[in-house]
Amino acid sequence: MRLELKGIHKRFGSVHANDDISVTIEAGTIHGLLGENGAGKSTLMKVLSGFIHRDAGEILLDGAPVEFKTPAEAIRAGVGMLHQDPLDFPPLRVLDNFLLGRADGLWLKRAQARANLRKFCHQFGFAFDPDAFVSSLTVGERQQLEIMRLLSLGAKILIFDEPTTGISLPQKIKLFDTLRSLAQQGMTIIFVTHKLQDAEDLCRKVTVLRLGRVTGEVARPFTADQLVRLMFGQSLETQARESIALGEAVLELREVCIGDYRLRVPDINLQVRAGEVIGLAGIEGSGQRLCLRACAGLDQPLAGEIRIAGERMNRQPYNKFQDRGVAYLPAGRLEEGLVPGLNLTEHLILAERSNEFFVNWKAASSHAQSRINEYSIRGMPASRVEALSGGNQQRALLALLQPNLRLVLLEHPTRGLDIESSLWVWRQLLERRRRGAAILFSSADLDEIFEYSDRILVFSGGRVAKALRAKETSVQQLGELIGGKGLGIGD
Ligand SMILES: Nc1ncnc2c1ncn2[C@@H]1O[C@H](COP(=O)(O)OP(=O)(O)O)[C@@H](O)[C@H]1O
Ligand SMILES: [Mg+2]
Repeated sequence: MRLELKGIHKRFGSVHANDDISVTIEAGTIHGLLGENGAGKSTLMKVLSGFIHRDAGEILLDGAPVEFKTPAEAIRAGVGMLHQDPLDFPPLRVLDNFLLGRADGLWLKRAQARANLRKFCHQFGFAFDPDAFVSSLTVGERQQLEIMRLLSLGAKILIFDEPTTGISLPQKIKLFDTLRSLAQQGMTIIFVTHKLQDAEDLCRKVTVLRLGRVTGEVARPFTADQLVRLMFGQSLETQARESIALGEAVLELREVCIGDYRLRVPDINLQVRAGEVIGLAGIEGSGQRLCLRACAGLDQPLAGEIRIAGERMNRQPYNKFQDRGVAYLPAGRLEEGLVPGLNLTEHLILAERSNEFFVNWKAASSHAQSRINEYSIRGMPASRVEALSGGNQQRALLALLQPNLRLVLLEHPTRGLDIESSLWVWRQLLERRRRGAAILFSSADLDEIFEYSDRILVFSGGRVAKALRAKETSVQQLGELIGGKGLGIGD
């Protein structure tokens, strides 16, 4: 099916999420939709799949205008979408999820559905137990199940919204194979991503969106540089690191032991001075998160002493750490960092930690607007935080930080963000550092660790290595440490 989107407009209040977007997608191809977070990709795809309604514009399938009021209507016409956040039902079994959305009743056709599911599994080389619970599946498997469900409902155009987020490399390779084979069988695939590499690897043509508009369309062979320019307006350069004089000790860990029911990391000794950036490296779950949380008073260390600016802080709550200029930004931005259901104005009011009983809403809202401008958040004072894209949620978290912090603790500060947002986040952090804050951050991205850390703390197998100077450490050394070499007992 050949698909045309013509002059699509969609506004959310003052945000023009789709501003006159036109795209044509040929049948049987993999077409990329590339753009940074907040560019308007998901909005366009939700319009196409009947999930939300456009303000203006036309959708044509094989030349004929179509109007989808609901996703069910879209799928009947052959358009199915895999959402960025899976829309399956984890407490249900595989077979029941496979049957969702069928008009012909859940009960009579179970035997037939089983056979059908087996047929699809065979076709794509997937392995599923129809009676397993979806909650036991990996994200990659849940995608596979959703692909089969949409195909069984008759989808001819499949939309994948950021499908490579949160899946492992082998799963990604499998997914890409599946997408290629779907295209070979005549399906039209729309692949939505903010990752250049993925678009380059997979797509025959790529349409690039920026701030709600199409900035260009390129066909193979294209270069990364071309795509970057369309995504960001110009090629990005990494910024040169400014060296600054270190101040007094902000954080001290003395013989600290952290742990939970499954992990114990003893003997952490560290002194961090004002203006220093420390990267915490290691395989996820090796104690980096526990360490950051202990430094914020969110978890108690099992032993040892934690000092902030000279004062012993053991057994103090987070708000006492806050009083001493500490802030913690979790990786779960929406789950832990923000409060879903509350808007930006309400967040700023909470972050002020004021004792006033009454809120001056008018002042609060205009204050929120000025922060939104200052931090280039794509949203409004009344926008609920769950409606913001990941990058804008991270901007919002940074906007909530008090001005004069001593110590900023961040878990995966740029995870899931596009290049430009990541650079922006670090510009903010380095500006804080210039004003005398110390920064401790964890990251799974070694480039990020090397680029921004003065010193690196490696967590591995229940141990922490002595902090390494980033400038004097090679990637190979770091890799070996992360893998557990040189961290053995008695080391
Ligand atoms: N339901 C909504 N309400 C208000 N604003 C929204 C909503 N959905 C998206 N937006 C805004 O529209 C813009 C585009 O978002 P989105 O389409 O999700 O971008 P992308 O998928 O490219 O990251 C963003 O600024 C986002 O905050
Ligand atoms: Mg999106």
